[in-house]
Amino acid sequence: MIKRYLAFFITLFLLSPVTYGASGGDLKPVAIDLDNKASLQRGAQIYFNNCAGCHTLQYHRYSKFVNDLGISEEMIKKNLILTTYKGEKTKLGSTIVNSINHDSIKEVFGVVPPDLTLTARSRGSEWIYTFLTSFYEDQTRPMGVNNVLYPNVNMPHVLWYKEGLKELDENNQLVIKIKGQLNQKEYEQEITDLVNFLTYVSEPAQLERYSIGFWVMLFLVIFVFITYLLKIEYWRDIK
Ligand code: HEC
Repeated sequence: MIKRYLAFFITLFLLSPVTYGASGGDLKPVAIDLDNKASLQRGAQIYFNNCAGCHTLQYHRYSKFVNDLGISEEMIKKNLILTTYKGEKTKLGSTIVNSINHDSIKEVFGVVPPDLTLTARSRGSEWIYTFLTSFYEDQTRPMGVNNVLYPNVNMPHVLWYKEGLKELDENNQLVIKIKGQLNQKEYEQEITDLVNFLTYVSEPAQLERYSIGFWVMLFLVIFVFITYLLKIEYWRDIK
């Protein structure tokens, strides 16, 4: 019996995310809300305007945005599809890739910008949020910036025109040195939308799973109630 209990607790321990170090200590929390379609749409807009030139979402298709995010086909074709394939505009059913040449981009950045479809699952939403709010000026780096979470990162701070440029003060705190278009709160809200979008992309089935989950739970509650009534009925004459 003791052995069985022991096996149970060891399994629980192994399955817990803490074992894999999934929750890093210095990560900032981010309020993910996949039901908030407006936030997901804003996130998509920020992504396609600022990130799609270098990064891909190669395991996702544009057409999924129609039902999942409520963006019309015309809108997607006009505002989100910015690439062409063999001279024609990329089709709605295509995967979200770009046309950068891997060799030449490697020459510029030292690495090929990774695909971001699954990053919210591999790194976590909080990781991406913290990463995008941790850039600071560092003239010793080729891009002129460094990152507290990802030291010596090769990505430029592409959203600096929105956030401004931060620097590390003598207490190792990030403080704004040059102002951007947005204040810190507005910038954090935009990054929340962007990370919300990347979280949806990393597992689109979540949207459906949560709504199906509600009906499954409701069904179970009703089913348990009916079973209980049945039990009373069966045992009525026995006692
Ligand atoms: C000019 C090209 C460029 C643009 C534009 C760009 N990135 Fe990057 N990004 C990179 C490169 C290069 C790396 C790899 C950095 C490294 O490994 O040192 C990277 C790395 C990342 C990573 C880390 C991935 C990982 O798992 O290591 C994330 C997350 C990321 N970018 C998100 C974004 C987002 C979100 C945007 C849009 C706001 C964006 N990037 C725009 C070039 C770019």
